[in-house]
Amino acid sequence: MAQIFCIANQKGGVGKTTTAVNLAAALSLQKRRVLFIDLDPQGNGTMGCGIEKRDLNKSIYEILLGIASFDQAVRRSEEGGFDVLPANRELAGAEVELVGLDQRDVRLKKP
Ligand SMILES: Nc1ncnc2c1ncn2[C@@H]1O[C@H](COP(=O)(O)OP(=O)(O)O)[C@@H](O)[C@H]1O
Ligand SMILES: [Mg+2]
Repeated sequence: MAQIFCIANQKGGVGKTTTAVNLAAALSLQKRRVLFIDLDPQGNGTMGCGIEKRDLNKSIYEILLGIASFDQAVRRSEEGGFDVLPANRELAGAEVELVGLDQRDVRLKKP
């Protein structure tokens, strides 16, 4: 069964992104299957996984809005050996755009 880790703290610059990237890499080294989901429009987690945030074809933004599939957005961290749903600045608009959409609070959960 999948385990979900969420690294959350309202304060900036306390190591959330660093912890998430290193946790993903460490679990991957233990032969666990890992999906790193970047939900920060800064895209630092994406970059930390070795994926250029400016070159994304699809990202977590399109997934949340239901205009791209998981397969279209998922990328591989070659260095880390795990999968990544990447993010970039487009995600900043998602909160506003989701307001009018149904079940916006469970979009990440639903297939
Ligand atoms: N354990 C640590 N020791 C020293 N510096 C750290 C540590 N964890 C993170 N940093 C540095 O602190 C800064 C902020 O970390 P970051 O993970 O981006 O924070 P957040 O995601 O909470 O904003 C970065 O420059 C990062 O390299
Ligand atoms: Mg961060």
